[in-house]
Amino acid sequence: MTDSSSKSNRFYLTTPIYYVNARPHLGHAYSTIVCDAIARRKRALGIETWFLTGTDEHGQKIERSAKAAGCTPQEFATKVAGEFRGLWDRLGLTYDDFIRTTEERHKRGVQKLFATLRDKGYIYKGSYTGQYCVSDEAYVDGPPGTPCPDCGRITETVSEENYFFKLSAFERKLLEFYEANPGFMGPESTRREVISFVRGGLKDLSVSRTGFSWGIPVPDDEKHVVYVWLDALANYITALGYGSDDPKDIARFEKFWPADIHLIGKEISRFHCVYWPAFLMAAGIATPRSVRANGWLLFDQGKMSKSRGNIVRAETVDEVLGADALRYFLLREIPFGQDGNFSFDALVQRYNGDLANGYGNLVSRVVNMVHKYFGGVVPVCDVQYLTVGTEKEGAIWNRAEFTISQFGPLFDDLNFSEALKSLWLLVAQTDSYLTAYAPWKKPAERSDAEHAALQARVLATAAEAIRVITALAYPVVPDAAAKVWRQLGLGEIADAAKRGFLKDLAWGGLKAGTKFGEPAPLFPRAEKDAMERMQSLEDENNRTAVEAASDGNGEDGGAAPAVAQRQEAVAAPAKAAEPKAPAVPAKPPAPVAAKVQTAPAVPAAPAAGSAAASAQPAAPQAAAEVTAAAGQALQISIDEFAKVELRVAQILVAERVPKADKLLRLEVDLGYEKRQILAGIAQHYEPEKLIGRKIVIVANLAPRKMRGLESNGMLLAASLEGGAPVLAGFLEEVPLGARLK
Ligand code: MSP
Repeated sequence: MTDSSSKSNRFYLTTPIYYVNARPHLGHAYSTIVCDAIARRKRALGIETWFLTGTDEHGQKIERSAKAAGCTPQEFATKVAGEFRGLWDRLGLTYDDFIRTTEERHKRGVQKLFATLRDKGYIYKGSYTGQYCVSDEAYVDGPPGTPCPDCGRITETVSEENYFFKLSAFERKLLEFYEANPGFMGPESTRREVISFVRGGLKDLSVSRTGFSWGIPVPDDEKHVVYVWLDALANYITALGYGSDDPKDIARFEKFWPADIHLIGKEISRFHCVYWPAFLMAAGIATPRSVRANGWLLFDQGKMSKSRGNIVRAETVDEVLGADALRYFLLREIPFGQDGNFSFDALVQRYNGDLANGYGNLVSRVVNMVHKYFGGVVPVCDVQYLTVGTEKEGAIWNRAEFTISQFGPLFDDLNFSEALKSLWLLVAQTDSYLTAYAPWKKPAERSDAEHAALQARVLATAAEAIRVITALAYPVVPDAAAKVWRQLGLGEIADAAKRGFLKDLAWGGLKAGTKFGEPAPLFPRAEKDAMERMQSLEDENNRTAVEAASDGNGEDGGAAPAVAQRQEAVAAPAKAAEPKAPAVPAKPPAPVAAKVQTAPAVPAAPAAGSAAASAQPAAPQAAAEVTAAAGQALQISIDEFAKVELRVAQILVAERVPKADKLLRLEVDLGYEKRQILAGIAQHYEPEKLIGRKIVIVANLAPRKMRGLESNGMLLAASLEGGAPVLAGFLEEVPLGARLK
């Protein structure tokens, strides 16, 4: 099935298409930047390359997000897709096509694929009752209440008449396919995981939904929409032209399919390595050559994601240090395939160490000296030094040749980190070479002629090393490389790339007599304030997002919550262990001295002398003092408050947790998603009476486990004397998911 024969001089690579329920953040930028670097290198090797990215716009999740934001799904999708595209343009990413799954060309292709699968007997009608994770748009095995194995959110029970794809028929075929194509998926952890998933047995897969309408109608049965993953995966072929009758589209599809690399996040490997090849095999279409999974970008120890509220925006890094700094950091710092930490601190250290003091400084020294000593013209240097060489020139020359031979295979194997490490050894070696010869210093015993010859030799050698470094580094730091190319007097590097200049990169390309361009700064050293600037840009964005949300037109209408910053600043989670039983007053006391607490999911019995315990019901003055004391105890800024995401939710299910007499398991609806929350209110509230109540929850609290069940958020309640909780609620009508501020 994998066509690895012909088409060797063309290359097709894709990013995942991004859900439009969240604004783009660094996690999304990561995959797209990796693809951009690969695409640039392939083009510069003279390979005809097609780089596809886009947005995934259908499905229940998007429909709900749009509803919460008060607009149509199409309006909603158009806005967020524009943000993705705008960011890719701002970062200078060289995608050849940006597909939106709401486009007609995609719809046509998906319908053709669906009809083909049905005509070939691989799709049949049945009914499905089971669990579905709306957030991941995935079917999940297990009884009602089962959390999604991927994201931990509570699944919903769906019961629908559906179309099914005969995935079970592909179990053996897929295993044989993996065996015959060991390079099909990577890294090794992904390969093992996928193979063990398939070995565990494949069940037929429901490939249509009826409970909502935001999707592509099933051909000839329009009450069904195509399952969003079948819809989304098909983008890789519909964008090339599958489904079109236009000869240009047909030719593009024939030229570029099958894809050389589908670059994906590790959590979506099952969809790409199991479902996608099975769909293609069933339809009689060639399977992709490889699927490569990147690890997660972590921030504050957790996967950077909207729902965790720990995102950083690529715009922030771009604004303060530039897009090249971000690209270099992501590719150098994180071994591809592994999870990697992002921090402003590590970013600035890499930037200063490798770019400002390393490459940037080397270029600036050499270019300035060529201007100073040779009027900006590459000097003639004794050829024998470059080919045979004295010990040191020979070392640079050898190192450069060695780097050229090593960098390509490492990079093409997606081992960017090692490739860059080896390239930066050449930077360091050239730097030490300059320092060792110190062409700016003429010892008294050296004649003028000897000194001029040495300067010529050293500067020509160093400049040539810079040319080699820059050519190899171009796919990673294209803006800086373009500047250096001009300074070396070589013109536009983008034009050189179009001519495939990397194909025959070898030592000796910088000719004597080449006129250098003007020196220009590359990577100005980042001072201490760089980190603070990035942090405050994030805080500022965070604040405006919260304000926009409260005006009803921001991303926060349930769609994409504000960029809440570091999680440690969010309200402290309640203890996971159940507390000692609080004294239950016969009648709730008058709620005069109640304080709102953000940790009542399992209310802690107030310690004697604590504010809540010492509040006396009948003494308004004492109550005022308690409030004042509480206010003085901890003052927070508006920015800090903005980090806590309080939202309106409605209780759908409430039930006691076996063997935990204080805990209730709640399923709550936030409008844009449903979740499970555990709350220690069982002794004060009858579960049945809670159904339908609107409450307030802290929505961006990190998930935690209690009694083996995951709690995703916590509800807010006033804590009365003795710890009795009174749930916060509303007198007026409020929409689900609305944010409190
Ligand atoms: N729409 C699906 C993909 C369909 S592809 C046919 C989807 N979208 S997503 O927006 O949730 O994620 C898109 C990609 O972004 C995934 O590959 C995911 O791994 C990646 N990332 C999102 N957050 C990330 C990090 N924090 N780190 C690295 N990649 C991350 O899944």
